[in-house]
Amino acid sequence: MGLLLPVVLCALAAFCRATSPPLPPSHFWPLLSHGCNESGVLELAGLALQDINRDRKDGYVLSLNRVSDVREDRQGNLGSLYYFTLDVLETGCHVLSKKSWKDCGVRHLHQSVYGKCKALFYVNRPERVLYVPAYNCTLRPAYRRRIQMMCPDCPFPISVSDPKVLETATETLAKYNSESTSKQYSVFQVTQASTQWVVGPAYFVEYLIKESPCTQHKDGNCALQPPDSLPVGLCRGSRTETRLEKFVRVNCEFFEPQVPTPGEENPAAKQGPADLPMVKESQQRNIAPTNSPSKAMPKGSVQYLPKLDDEMMPEDAQGNIPVEAFPVQLDLTTNPQGESLDVSFLFLHPMEEKLVVLPFPKKEQRSAECPGPAQQPNPLILPP
Ligand SMILES: *[C@@H]1O[C@H](CO)[C@@H](O)[C@H](O)[C@H]1NC(C)=O
Ligand SMILES: *[C@@H]1O[C@H](CO)[C@@H](O)[C@H](O)[C@H]1NC(C)=O
Repeated sequence: MGLLLPVVLCALAAFCRATSPPLPPSHFWPLLSHGCNESGVLELAGLALQDINRDRKDGYVLSLNRVSDVREDRQGNLGSLYYFTLDVLETGCHVLSKKSWKDCGVRHLHQSVYGKCKALFYVNRPERVLYVPAYNCTLRPAYRRRIQMMCPDCPFPISVSDPKVLETATETLAKYNSESTSKQYSVFQVTQASTQWVVGPAYFVEYLIKESPCTQHKDGNCALQPPDSLPVGLCRGSRTETRLEKFVRVNCEFFEPQVPTPGEENPAAKQGPADLPMVKESQQRNIAPTNSPSKAMPKGSVQYLPKLDDEMMPEDAQGNIPVEAFPVQLDLTTNPQGESLDVSFLFLHPMEEKLVVLPFPKKEQRSAECPGPAQQPNPLILPP
């Protein structure tokens, strides 16, 4: 009998496997809480945000203002799945620059864009795996009547589709092109715009540029534009008018060319920064993209909402931001028992590895020592 039992169990397991998808392991253990100011938590939150920034194709690099909540789900030998809620600020670096958020400065208060991200972060230290299976963020511009009252003369954001904005972008880039001795560029997309009254109207714009097929000295002799030409840099331009004169300033920054490495297509390749000693370079490269079932799964998105004044969402008497102002949804499952997530593709060995993902913890279940202290503690740029 003692010998028979394992055989019966195996047969049963094979039967189950053949008829229905493998059941997720049931989840009885509680999530662990951590302090949001713990150095280990801050380090992991920073790495998770780095992965989020690396996954994005447009917008500006987000920096960590504070850890709003963290819960850890230890999953035995597989490591831990963290549930992070992060309060973030837009920086001045475009995501295509691939710069680390730590190297990017945040914007002035009147040009701030701030919000909240939720992210799952899978950490397996012995196997040197760091991986964000999913994230979602919601951002809003900080600029509101209260900031305008604090600084009536500050530049204020305007729509990038304002005709004056494209005019300013085109005109400032023309100046850049006229001073360039070789390559010429054209406006790919305006990414930010603001205006201010100086001695006359002034416009400030930021825009992505792509290489133009025309060269400076071959007017009317332009090569065919490759249809897939990508933005190569970000320009900041301004135009100030006075009654008599017009001043045009422009400054462009070029992105580092991205050399595609084998495995770069695979989300698993974004396991962590190269400077993290925990992450083996070789392992990042050896991952076969073919055995990655979740490859096609969109990891996440960043949602931009209008500034709070534009919505029927009045602040209370103290000027506090309404609690529901930054809705972020991140639910891979609604099953309280959890659902399994195949992460086998993150490992070099051929075994099947499955994490248990739970519904994202509710705000009311926040860890006791959370949120942590903010880098920029101004309540005008802190989501509730
Ligand atoms: C992320 O947010 C979008 C809405 O912005 C939502 O449709 C999507 O389901 C969210 N993703 C997850 C995994 O919850
Ligand atoms: C956060 O941690 C740092 C360094 O450990 C400490 O100096 C600081 O006082 C802590 N802040 C809070 C609000 O606990």
